[in-house]
Amino acid sequence: MELNGKTIVLTGAASGIGAAMARRFAEESPGALVLVDIDPGVRRIAEELGATGAIADVSVGDAVEHLVADVRSDHGHIDLFCSNAGVATGAGIDASPDTWQRTWDVNVMAHVHAARAVLPGMLERGAGYLLNTASAAGLLTNIGDAPYSVTKHAAVALAEWISVTYGDRGVKVSCLCPQGVRTPMLLGGVDDGHLGAHLVAAQGLIEPEECAEAVIAGLREERFLILPHPEVAEYVSFKANDIDKWLRGMRKLQTRAPR
Ligand SMILES: NC(=O)c1ccc[n+]([C@@H]2O[C@H](COP(=O)([O-])OP(=O)(O)OC[C@H]3O[C@@H](n4cnc5c(N)ncnc54)[C@H](O)[C@@H]3O)[C@@H](O)[C@H]2O)c1
Repeated sequence: MELNGKTIVLTGAASGIGAAMARRFAEESPGALVLVDIDPGVRRIAEELGATGAIADVSVGDAVEHLVADVRSDHGHIDLFCSNAGVATGAGIDASPDTWQRTWDVNVMAHVHAARAVLPGMLERGAGYLLNTASAAGLLTNIGDAPYSVTKHAAVALAEWISVTYGDRGVKVSCLCPQGVRTPMLLGGVDDGHLGAHLVAAQGLIEPEECAEAVIAGLREERFLILPHPEVAEYVSFKANDIDKWLRGMRKLQTRAPR
């Protein structure tokens, strides 16, 4: 997909990977760029890029419905919806029920709400693109963060399901699965002593701009899996070939983690 002239909606655009994607998308001269976040700071980034800023909690179905209706009434249709907002917890199995629910609502249901809102229009036109940000944690796991790992697996599963179900009707899907990216989410996890964030950071971080560049390349090639860290493909294949060996390796890695 070429982004030139397209109408694009991007969530989680006030920070990190989303903000870098917003800047990179703006360089591609989209017809319209709508930047969404729960953080009002998104308005400043939108202004800087000549885009439209919208404040919404994307974990709430009605809010996403309204957002999509507003974009449709302003721009006719949506070519590309990037569901990128996400949260991490650093918590294990004993995360509170509220933490499990909030993580599920943001990391999974936001993708569901987006797809439910945009798919009817895309199917009617026989064209449209969904880019869902999951994580390498959705293909492998994130040591230390149970709600994050579980919800990111669900996010990958949902993207696969949408691609299988609607791929022959003109709907394209990509699933962005980065490993460590230097963003407030990751650095905040390191500061808070989260095991997974420490381990990921120890393996080396890429910059949000490198992640955004991988997104542009992945969209251009219309690849389902966008892996800004190519080594993730090797880990996934290793896991698929011998999951018991992979689990033993992950347990060993856990014991070596800085605490
Ligand atoms: N940073 C990494 O290493 C990394 C790795 C893999 C995947 N990811 C994923 O990339 C995405 C972006 O993460 P990031 O690292 O840029 O984090 P970030 O915290 O810098 O940015 C996330 C943005 O999402 C917004 N957001 C959170 N909940 C929201 C909600 N309910 N409604 C609207 N906006 C909401 C936040 O306000 C923030 O601006 C997330 O889905 C994250 O899980 C990040």
